[in-house]
Amino acid sequence: MALIEIEGVTKTYPPARRGGQPVTAVDDVSLTVEKGEIVGVVGYSGAGKSTLVRLVNALEPATSGTIRVDGVEVTSLSERRLQKVRLGIGMIFQQFNLFHSRTVYGNVAYPLTVAGVPRAEQHRRIEELLSFVGLSEKAHQYSEQLSGGQKQRVAIARALATDPAILLADEATSALDPETTADVVALLRRVNEELGVTILVITHEMEVVKSIADRVVVMEQGRVVEAGSAFDVFARPSHPATQRFVRTLVDDVPDARAVAHLRARHTGRLVTLSFRDDAVSQSQVFAELVRQGVEFELIFGGIEDVQGRAFGHLTLELRGDDEAVEAALREVRELVPVTDVPEPPADADEREAV
Ligand SMILES: Nc1ncnc2c1ncn2[C@@H]1O[C@H](COP(=O)(O)OP(=O)(O)OP(=O)(O)O)[C@@H](O)[C@H]1O
Ligand SMILES: [Mg+2]
Repeated sequence: MALIEIEGVTKTYPPARRGGQPVTAVDDVSLTVEKGEIVGVVGYSGAGKSTLVRLVNALEPATSGTIRVDGVEVTSLSERRLQKVRLGIGMIFQQFNLFHSRTVYGNVAYPLTVAGVPRAEQHRRIEELLSFVGLSEKAHQYSEQLSGGQKQRVAIARALATDPAILLADEATSALDPETTADVVALLRRVNEELGVTILVITHEMEVVKSIADRVVVMEQGRVVEAGSAFDVFARPSHPATQRFVRTLVDDVPDARAVAHLRARHTGRLVTLSFRDDAVSQSQVFAELVRQGVEFELIFGGIEDVQGRAFGHLTLELRGDDEAVEAALREVRELVPVTDVPEPPADADEREAV
């Protein structure tokens, strides 16, 4: 079932000053998020990610297009009805946005008080939430006394207080170190799996997307330029923006510079083999090389795991007489895609040296 349906949505801000240009922050975006999914939205700064989030929880009206949240068209609702829709959407931010004057307990209590939940029930709910995020011990501390990761846990508990169906996370891990990021990502996964909350993760960190998202949407200049399962987007990125993002994480095909280095040490035939989990196992390929009497060495590349499925590129140096190498490659090509590593430009080494 579709929980969030965004159809042809555009958001244009008027010029900041007279004579200036209007800014189209979100440009004809269509996107559906199914109940129970974790969808990652990635894009560079200014791509329109935060604007999209503000449109989804109706903090701002869209200029055109329609947005339905759990079947309710939010673009035309009165402020009163919108408040009800917003109760079903939790939100967390990069800077946590906690109330400094309140304790951990007080922060989580806030949305419950606003929603008119009686004290006794609040208490039960807060204990439950703090235990879920692993902060029962910290209930009476003030937010300044917490680490970044702990603050984000409080923010998550607060966002979940009213039992929303949707959690919007806008750069929720961008202020955290890698280890703390991994903890928060693991907590978000539990929020999804154990509480059934649908999560929209906005981030510029591919590591986060890779470890949590079922589906990935890539934005550039307000537009969705690529969308697909996390595995497909990582294993076969098609848009240049996506390729740049994926390369920040998966850098398994040698570029010209790496080829120049490899060439200096490896004089045999260099080929890159592409593996995908649904294709052929590596052992089949290696067995074929051995059978043909070709010696080989793995000199570059790597295998990644996304959503429990493996893919990657391995660059091999092949050594043996030319005929045996050709015969082996003919067989290997039947199994996996093979590309010859291009020779580096003649002056690559000199350029390196400069
Ligand atoms: N309230 C506003 N008024 C005018 N322009 C805005 C407003 N909010 C955002 N913009 C513009 O819209 C574009 C998209 O901004 P947005 O904050 O959605 O990007 P983002 O992808 O979240 O970037 P970041 O990764 O830096 O958070 C930018 O060009 C921004 O300057
Ligand atoms: Mg943003």
